[in-house]
Amino acid sequence: MRSWKRVSRLAGFVAVALSVVVSNAAAAGKKVIIDTDPGTDDAMAIMLALNSPELDVRGITVVPGNVTARQGLDNALKMISLANRCDIPVAAGAQHPIFQKSVTAEYWHGKNGLANIELPPSKCKVDPRFGPDLIIEMVRANPHEITLLPIGPLTNIALALQKDPSIVPLVKEVIIMGGSISGGNSTGAAEANIFGDPEAAQIVFQAGWPLTMAGLEVGDKTLFSKAYLDRLGQTHGPVNDFIYKVAKFLVDQSAQFGSDGSPMYDPTAIGTAIDATIMTTVAMHVDVETRGEFTRGETVANRHNMNERNVLRHFDDGDRYVIEGLDKLNPNVKVCTDIDSKKFLEMFVTRIAGK
Ligand code: BDR
Ligand code: CA
Repeated sequence: MRSWKRVSRLAGFVAVALSVVVSNAAAAGKKVIIDTDPGTDDAMAIMLALNSPELDVRGITVVPGNVTARQGLDNALKMISLANRCDIPVAAGAQHPIFQKSVTAEYWHGKNGLANIELPPSKCKVDPRFGPDLIIEMVRANPHEITLLPIGPLTNIALALQKDPSIVPLVKEVIIMGGSISGGNSTGAAEANIFGDPEAAQIVFQAGWPLTMAGLEVGDKTLFSKAYLDRLGQTHGPVNDFIYKVAKFLVDQSAQFGSDGSPMYDPTAIGTAIDATIMTTVAMHVDVETRGEFTRGETVANRHNMNERNVLRHFDDGDRYVIEGLDKLNPNVKVCTDIDSKKFLEMFVTRIAGK
C-alpha cells in the first residue's frame, strides 16, 4: 500500500513536471500579433502560424484589403474557430485606409475572400477592443517581446503608431508581407498591400523600428505547385482539408494564368518569423511613394544608402544644381532578396499535414 502510494505520488510529480515542460515550451514561442486582410494566402499564413511551436500567436487584428473589414473579421473568426483557438483574441480594426478608398480583391481571392469555401459559423467571439488599441496594449504589456506580422495593408499598424508612438522601441520586430523592389503586382510599380494604403505604409516604414520586408521578390519565387497540393490531399484533418481547398483554388487559378503554382506571399512573412535563415536580406533605405502618377504605392529602395547632394549655384550662364557630395541614408528595412523556397514549402506542408 505504502509503495503504491509512493508510486502514485511519483506519477503525480512526473505529470506536473511534464505539464510545466509542455507549457514552458508553448510559452517559449515568439509572441506575435498577426494583422491580416483574410484572404486566401492570409488563411495559409494564419494556419501555418497556429501550427508552429516557434510562434505564440497572441492576437489577430483585421484590416480591410482583400475583402471589406466586416468580411475579413468574419473570415478570421471562422478560421480561429476551425483551428479550435478561441483563446486568441480577434479584433476588428480600421474600416478603411487612412487617405484613400479601399481596393478589395475578390477577383483573386473569391467572393468571400476564402476561395468561396463556406466555413461553419464561428464558436469564437470578437474581442471588443479596436485592433490598433489591442496592438498598443499588448506591446506595452510585453515590452521588447512582441513581433508584429502585418500581412495586409498597413493601416492598423500606422494607426497604432499615430496613437502611441512610444510603442516603437517596445516592439521586438516587424516582419511585413508587402512591397517590392522590382515592380508591382497591383500596378507596374506597386505591390497590393502597399498600394492598399501607401500613406500608412510610409508611416510604418519610417517609424524607426526593426523592419523586415518579405515582398514580391521572395513570394514570387515560392510557388505552391500541384505536387505540394497532391501531398496535402493525402492527409486529413479540419485545417488540412480547408487549406487543401484554398490551395486547390489558387493552384487552379495560377494554371489559368499559365503559372506552375501560386505565390505564397503571406506565408513567407510567417516563415521568416519561424526561421529567419530561410531568407537572404539586404539592408536598404526604403521610402513609399505616395504621390507619383504611375508609382503611387511603390517601395522605393536605395541600394547604396546615399543620395547625391544637389546644391543650387549661380553661374554667369544661369543657375543650376551642382552635385557637391553625398548624403548618407540610414537603412530602415531588411529587404528579403532571396528565399530557400524548398525548405519553406516543406515546412509549410509538413506543418499543415494531418491538422
Ligand atoms: C498581398 O496582397 C494580397 O492580395 C495578399 O493577401 C498578400 O498579402 C500580395 O501582394
Ligand atoms: Ca494578405
